[in-house]
Amino acid sequence: MKIAIGCDHGGFELKEAVKKFLAENGHEYQDFGTHDTQSCDYPDIAVPVAKAVAAGEFDRGILICGTGIGIGIAANKVAGIRAALCHDTFSAHASREHNNANVLTMGQRVIGQGLALDIVNIWLNTEFEGGRHEGRVNKLMAQRCLLEQGFVKNPDQTIADIIAGKAEIVKFERYVLGEGLEKRNENFADEV
Ligand code: RB5
Repeated sequence: MKIAIGCDHGGFELKEAVKKFLAENGHEYQDFGTHDTQSCDYPDIAVPVAKAVAAGEFDRGILICGTGIGIGIAANKVAGIRAALCHDTFSAHASREHNNANVLTMGQRVIGQGLALDIVNIWLNTEFEGGRHEGRVNKLMAQRCLLEQGFVKNPDQTIADIIAGKAEIVKFERYVLGEGLEKRNENFADEV
């Protein structure tokens, strides 16, 4: 399998161990950094990894930070990504069978290396079950934020205005395919 792997400073040692595991088990990987324990920001690693997986350049992604939380939140903001934080083998298994997770996240400060490698092994070797889970995952993938869906004419300007306090999100809703388009403009105010 072709894996995109990345971490922040809080996950560096575990990333190195996972890379070794991947190589020993016949997987190909690309390391998106970070390459040492110097402090960095996890979105800077998560987004390139997530985009590469979403673009189909890799089969799966593995992201590690101190807790696995921040790096997973960042990855899940990229369309097409289903990042699952797994700190036990049952969740690793289920995240593949039920959720078709395409990114695994873990926290180096939470679990030991032995368990982490078991999780990676199970996660890489479990197939999506499809069936009743298929429609659910399709709905999951149809959930896009209003900005991405074109609900706002100029998303960059609107985001800048929100940051500057000149605009605010009145109601942020996630939509499933086929719903909500008629509600355009009702859920988003681009001026305070
Ligand atoms: C870095 O100290 C830490 O906050 C980061 O690795 C991660 O745990 C964030 O979710």
